[in-house]
Amino acid sequence: MALRNITVRGDEILAKKCKPVKAITPRIRVLVEDMTETMLAADGVGIAAPQVGVMKRVFIAMPHVESEDEEIRNKVYCMINPEITYTEGTQESSEGCLSVPGYMGLVDRPQKIRIKATDLDGNEQEYEFEGFEATVFCHEYDHLDGILYPDIAKEMMTAEEYAERLEEVKEEHAES
Ligand code: NI
Repeated sequence: MALRNITVRGDEILAKKCKPVKAITPRIRVLVEDMTETMLAADGVGIAAPQVGVMKRVFIAMPHVESEDEEIRNKVYCMINPEITYTEGTQESSEGCLSVPGYMGLVDRPQKIRIKATDLDGNEQEYEFEGFEATVFCHEYDHLDGILYPDIAKEMMTAEEYAERLEEVKEEHAES
């Protein structure tokens, strides 16, 4: 396994539509292994192939970060040629991105989704996610269509402004 460089906003590869994976070759397996290592090293909860410079419809996600069960918390989903087949409701999510360092944004996302994809063994699977987990999958899925969250955010702020805002909310709770 090897760490790969993370492309950052401004690189035109991040604004392009990625191509479907035709076959799960050893090269795709190495790509997924490297993406996993790169995501973990960068402390991310997801990463898409264009973020390591590869224009393929592949992303990985580790969305159960809040689970108390270690095995569930560390589960990494590999999504090849994913398709969002159903969405329900809306939620406002706070998002960051490894390709947009130093910023956070508020984005309207579906509350619940169903997503179909091929896994690394070549099996098609369908999953259902809601809340934060649904957000992670929508965010990564958008990368495959050349969409970065700042393109669709209602509001952008620096990571410092975001931290201050969280602090204010905490103080308000402490007061009431
Ligand atoms: Ni991202």
